[in-house]
Amino acid sequence: MIPTKSTAIAHSNTALIKYWGKRDEKLIIPMNNSISFTTDALTTTTTVDFSEEFTEDSFLLNGLEQTGKPLKRVVEHLNLIREISKTKVKAKVHSQNNFPTAAGLASSASGFAALTSAAINAVDLKLDNKELSMISRRGSGSSCRSFFGGYVEWIAMDEMNESYAVQLADENWFDIRDIVVVLKAPERKMNTREAMKLSIKTSPFFKSRLETIDTSLAQIRLAIKEKDFISLGSTAEMDCLSMHSVAITSNPSQIFWTPDTVKVMHFVENLREEKIDAYYTIDTGANLHILTTPNFEREIIKQLEEKIRPEKIISSKPGPGIKIVNEHLF
Ligand code: ADP
Ligand code: DP6
Repeated sequence: MIPTKSTAIAHSNTALIKYWGKRDEKLIIPMNNSISFTTDALTTTTTVDFSEEFTEDSFLLNGLEQTGKPLKRVVEHLNLIREISKTKVKAKVHSQNNFPTAAGLASSASGFAALTSAAINAVDLKLDNKELSMISRRGSGSSCRSFFGGYVEWIAMDEMNESYAVQLADENWFDIRDIVVVLKAPERKMNTREAMKLSIKTSPFFKSRLETIDTSLAQIRLAIKEKDFISLGSTAEMDCLSMHSVAITSNPSQIFWTPDTVKVMHFVENLREEKIDAYYTIDTGANLHILTTPNFEREIIKQLEEKIRPEKIISSKPGPGIKIVNEHLF
């Protein structure tokens, strides 16, 4: 079979218990299990075309031809897929994120999930979501969680030494809201991968984070099962602070927050004083996710507009898994 063109849509995911640190840098095996939910509103659409006509791989992201690191990551992932499918044909990749790239909103997660799915479909391999998650993980760890909708756990390593994602509950199980607060911020000094590596090597708190992570994972699994928002939100916020404590105590220190980030953290604490159920979580950027229940969504957005005036507010609910579509980007 000659590889052809294929397009996939992947949704990004928001980590409730964070993946922070690898035990194997090359195979991307994490130190700990992580749990996320797939977001409805944040998406990546990627078209991959394999053709004998191309002399090299190319990668257009959000309308801009990519060179350097972003291109290298895509080429390395295509090499892995070529190895699996035993083809040598080069590819043209066009991708579109509908939200800010490299700003702590998991563009690498939806980006690599969409790339994996489109490329595997283009080479006509029939794989299930577990198998796809194992391949995608090699491009970007958190992308393995975007193959499933709803609430998802990444199993760091099972008894067969395999690392993949599983669905804990689908997107219709437990309706929550993720209000993404996009803030004006300077470009990040360090990308997620480098910051994570530095944390393992230099933070004195890295080990103690791992000592409590099994308890946090169990709390989140139970909160999802029992649809207990307060437990879900408070455990997620605590894990966010734990991950950032490790990042902040790395050498050099990795502070992803800006003064506006801290302002929104206090804003969320104040919401709780007003008996509004809200918690925050933050990845590797200045932007925040405010987690809440559907009944508080409007009030929080209103107060954000009045008191914070962010660049953008994107409200999302738990969303679906990966999808192959017939409309291509080129
Ligand atoms: P983020 O918080 O956005 O995930 P990361 O530093 O983890 O930030 O990842 C950003 C990197 O992911 C980009 O620099 C690029 O290399 C890659 N990336 C982002 N979007 C895509 C995409 N749609 N397709 C392929 N790679 C992507
Ligand atoms: C803070 O998956 O982007 O968002 O595997 O090196 O590509 P690589 O890292 P990546 O890391 C995500 C880290 C995080 C937490 C999380 O999503 O679990």
